[in-house]
Amino acid sequence: MNAASSTALLRVSDVTVRFGGLTAIDKVSFEVLPGELLGLIGPNGAGKTTLLRAITGVVSATDGRVELEGRRIDGLPIDKRILRGMSLSQQLVKPFRDISVIDNVALAAGGAKTMSPLTSLMHVARHQELATARQMLERVGIAQHADQFAATQPLGVLKRLEMARALALKPRLLLLDEPLAGLNSNEARGLADTIAEINRQGVTIVLIEHNLGEVMRICQRLVVLDNGRKIADGPPRAVMDDPVVRAAYLGGDTLGAAAADGDQNHA
Ligand SMILES: Nc1ncnc2c1ncn2[C@@H]1O[C@H](COP(=O)(O)OP(=O)(O)OP(=O)(O)O)[C@@H](O)[C@H]1O
Ligand SMILES: [Mg+2]
Repeated sequence: MNAASSTALLRVSDVTVRFGGLTAIDKVSFEVLPGELLGLIGPNGAGKTTLLRAITGVVSATDGRVELEGRRIDGLPIDKRILRGMSLSQQLVKPFRDISVIDNVALAAGGAKTMSPLTSLMHVARHQELATARQMLERVGIAQHADQFAATQPLGVLKRLEMARALALKPRLLLLDEPLAGLNSNEARGLADTIAEINRQGVTIVLIEHNLGEVMRICQRLVVLDNGRKIADGPPRAVMDDPVVRAAYLGGDTLGAAAADGDQNHA
């Protein structure tokens, strides 16, 4: 065992997830060190979202183990895993549309304590949750939208709202699933800067993202999945130069051009 493996915040060991006959995740192992901003990338259908869901407990791993700060969590329900310090920002943004932006975040802040939607509703008016919510909106740069209905917000604001909801749980480990998807390049750059800033403030982050330009700019290390398997793990430049990674992207449809900006001489 090396020094890194003994100090990992998150350790995923030989995790397998099967849906019926489909093996979506196949014996994947990786670690996230405290303070890291780790990019989790791979072509469409590679298994990135499924792996994040297995870490948070939204889906059950068929096999393998997940440890947070050295303690096994793969047998725990989602709420217990969240109480241990992790939070997930979803690929599809689904706020409560008919309440304000700040109430959406306050609900999440209240939910961190109670984990029951009904009890958290009663908490909305409470000063502490609203104060936390406002702090989180400021942190993600949308405090000026606090009192507007969530339903009327553009995607760029909703993406930041989803991140504020995740941060309201005060996680040590924040898992982000495609926060930049659907944003134009300026918006994506701005939100990537916000993610890097949140990381600098002490939140360890796993970032799933197809925008490889921003991933390369802000991530300290990359893990690459393809067909449910881990095919690379290391410094961003070295990983992107790896022929195996390039081949995986060439076989896919979304990212071939971004990943294959050099010569290719393998099938
Ligand atoms: N609940 C489910 N039931 C059955 N199959 C599923 C389920 N969730 C995901 N899959 C399958 O598992 C595989 C991995 O999907 P997943 O959504 O994890 O990929 P991804 O890397 O997140 O892709 P994308 O980049 O398109 O979001 C795919 O073949 C997908 O169809
Ligand atoms: Mg996905």
